[in-house]
Parts: sequence; C-alpha cells; structure tokens
Amino acid sequence: MADLITLRVTRYRPENDTEPTTQDYEIPLRKEWAVLDGLNHIKDHLDGTLSYRWSCRMGICGSCGMTVNGEPRLTCATFLEDCAPGPIRVEPLRNFPVIRDLVVEIGDFMRKLPQVKPWVIREEEASIDSEYLQTPAELDQYKQFSMCINCMLCYSACPVYALDKDFLGPAAIALAQRYNLDSRDQGSAERMDVLSAAEGIWSCTFVGECTTACPKGVDPAGAIQRYKFTAAMESLKAFLLPRGTR
Ligand code: FES
Repeated sequence: MADLITLRVTRYRPENDTEPTTQDYEIPLRKEWAVLDGLNHIKDHLDGTLSYRWSCRMGICGSCGMTVNGEPRLTCATFLEDCAPGPIRVEPLRNFPVIRDLVVEIGDFMRKLPQVKPWVIREEEASIDSEYLQTPAELDQYKQFSMCINCMLCYSACPVYALDKDFLGPAAIALAQRYNLDSRDQGSAERMDVLSAAEGIWSCTFVGECTTACPKGVDPAGAIQRYKFTAAMESLKAFLLPRGTR
C-alpha cells in the first residue's frame, strides 16, 4: 500500500458559513502526483462536495492557482513529495473574495485587463494579405511578458494589491508592457493614461513578490520599474521640448 499524506483543505460556503473551516483528507503519496492530483483524488473518491478550479493540468491555463503551505502556487505544478511530510495546507488564493472552498472570484482583474488594451494597436492596418514582420531580436524584447497565463498568483502575492484594490496590479501592467515592447504595436501612447495614473505603475513599491510568485518566469516587477522610467522620460520631454518636436 502506498504511503499516505494529509491535505488540510479550507472549506467555505459564504452563503452558509460565518467562517472558513479546514478539513483533513488522507490521500496516497505518489511520486508523480501534484497537489491537484490529490484534490482530484478527494473529489473522485472521498468527498465530491469539494470545489476548486483546474483545466489543463500542465501549467498552461492558469486556473489551478491556490495557496499551498502559505505560498501562491499552481497546484498542478506543485508536487506532493516536495511538500512532505505534511499535512499540506491548501487554501484559496489570498486577496480575492471566495466563492466556495478553493474557488475565488477574479472579476476585478477581468475588468481591469481591457483598460490596458492588451492587443496590437496599429495607426493604420496593413492589407489583409500582408504580414507584420519581426526579427528574433524584436521578439526577444517582449517574449517573457507574453508567457503570462493570468493565473493571479502575482495578485495574491502582492502586498500593494492586498491594501489597495484600485491598483491595476502586476499581470495587467506586465501585459501592457508585452504590447508596448512589441515592434508591431503603435499603441503605447493610448496605454499611457491608464498606466501612469496613480493606481497604475506609481502604486507599485517594488516589493518584487509578484516576480517571485510567477510560475512562468515573467518579471512583472521589472516591467513596472522599466515603465516608470519610460513614463518619467515622457514627462520630462513634454516639459522640456517645444510642442511638435517631441
Ligand atoms: Fe492549468 Fe494548472 S490546471 S495551469
């Protein structure tokens, strides 16, 4: 018989419960199992009432983010063996309202994301049968920011977002930079108002927890600092240079 390990899982039904509680489940400790496999074992064999999100099981969809032993993690990429001997605490992502058990409500991010216009903006569209060509070096400029999977681990880790829900947040700003740095894009001026507002880049105090938490190697903290420099230079140019020469 396989060794066992305990998952200590947060249970919460806001419509019925006044406070979250925890429930322990003993599951097989299998070498190839991630925390998500343990949750699936609970759902399939021990307790079908447990609620959580997942989809791809391969670190792509970004839906399985939870707090594991106090850290924001993708549960499909966090192995039970690495958390042994347990019990392994599995809680919902912090900084978001809980809908049920381990499922959080991310509508705040979904409303903020379109504000930074995360798509290629062109002053004039090329004809439908032409392409916007790009060199490998130009791709390298923004490639790491394109790896974001919107998993919300960075928002869960961010102490500024914990205190100020108006803060645009790490992923939205990193995704804006992904397009600002894209040689095919001409929309950086359109993103400037939102990014350089008080709730944009200037709210970030460069704690860097977002970059530490990111499971895809994106550096949102670096993107924000880089954009602060760009915004400061733009302000300086606007102050020093006569209109029409900027
Ligand atoms: Fe898709 Fe984990 S299930 S990222």
